[in-house]
Amino acid sequence: MTKSREISATGGLRGEITVPGDKSISHRSIMIGAMAAGKTRVQGFLRGEDNLSTLNAFRLMGVEIEECENGEIIIHGRGLKGLEEPLDVIDCGNSGTTMRLMTGLLAAQPFFSVLTGDKYLRRRPMKRVVGPLTEMGARIFGREGGDKAPLAIVGGGLHSLSYHSPIASAQVKSSLLLAGLFCDGETTVYEPHLSRDHSERMLSYFGAEIKPFSGGVTIVGHPRLEARDILVPGDISSAAFLLVAALIVPGSELLVRNVGMNPTRSGIVDILQQMGGSICILNAREAAGEPVADLLVKSSDLHGIEIGGELVPRAIDELPVVSVAAAFAQGTTLIRDAHELRVKETDRIASMTAELTRLGARVTALDDGMRIHGGDALAGGAVRSHGDHRVAMSMAVAALAATGPVTIDDIGCTATSFPDFWTLLDTCRSER
Ligand code: S3P
Repeated sequence: MTKSREISATGGLRGEITVPGDKSISHRSIMIGAMAAGKTRVQGFLRGEDNLSTLNAFRLMGVEIEECENGEIIIHGRGLKGLEEPLDVIDCGNSGTTMRLMTGLLAAQPFFSVLTGDKYLRRRPMKRVVGPLTEMGARIFGREGGDKAPLAIVGGGLHSLSYHSPIASAQVKSSLLLAGLFCDGETTVYEPHLSRDHSERMLSYFGAEIKPFSGGVTIVGHPRLEARDILVPGDISSAAFLLVAALIVPGSELLVRNVGMNPTRSGIVDILQQMGGSICILNAREAAGEPVADLLVKSSDLHGIEIGGELVPRAIDELPVVSVAAAFAQGTTLIRDAHELRVKETDRIASMTAELTRLGARVTALDDGMRIHGGDALAGGAVRSHGDHRVAMSMAVAALAATGPVTIDDIGCTATSFPDFWTLLDTCRSER
């Protein structure tokens, strides 16, 4: 377990900041760049632990990846058929995206590979990708009947599929689209609500034939992918912690520059605005196929709302910090349709309910969400991160507006997605 940290209440958060690059887009830049012809230059790549797991996985398959001093990453693409059998087990660390997307990709390669991960990832369900990939002809073996890693993959010989996913999951969708790259004909994934579409956007940007339609997306097999330059926008999931912090700490005014505003990800801005939060979207623009904007946020009086349906996949990773905003909002916030939170890095319904309750918040865990009665002051105390980066950062945000100091244990996990979180937070804190 890594070290703990004590956080005390702060004066207003002020200034102009940028947040690190988008984690989902950074993963895909390596995966898709590796399969393209030519050199893909990536600016703004997130050097978090999850993305470094993806980077190391592709190096193990013979892909040359330069990490330049200016932060740029250059991927020497090997074409669609250029990956080599890895000499060792691929360690995905804590990264579900690495494991699930790579399972699709590896199932289609003419070689053997093994994927494993840390103790959290080895507990997470993989059947959601192993099931449909098996229908495509994949041979994948794992613990608990193929549901849990380590996964051993005897690749090759896939055929296309039309799959109705029971969950709105970009990891499931992307895994099947990546497998579909290697199949004859069209592979189609239907989903109940649109999940993040970074794979579709990037594959199409690299030259693949992608046909999105209402309720799903189709990919045509065997494209020629051509290397492109990628500009990774700031991660809205990381910005979310700063947005909520600025809303709940009185006297805050913060400009967060260069935030990815893909509509499949920007549910957090809609939620916080619906709660009465003052967030202005400035300078909306596009960079390498992704919408980007600057967000100006000011402290606000928040009120409770109901969150469910299509908003949930658009804000799935932000719901932990939404529960913190809700604890500081007047009235009740109800989060429903978010059963997926139970199978993230931790069971985030259980972890957030337990930790907010320790500080005196009135929270009830529901099977598929949380009911939060907001407006009571939160006290100081000792809380746990559960080894989950988003729980650690959510509790840090709660601490900034609590009445006493809050100690969070095991904070090293924030390096998964936001290695500079603590430094960045310190740069915008002012004296009380
Ligand atoms: C991700 C998809 C989401 C998200 C995860 C990253 C991705 O998972 O929670 O942090 O990069 O595709 P699901 O698609 O399983 O909901």
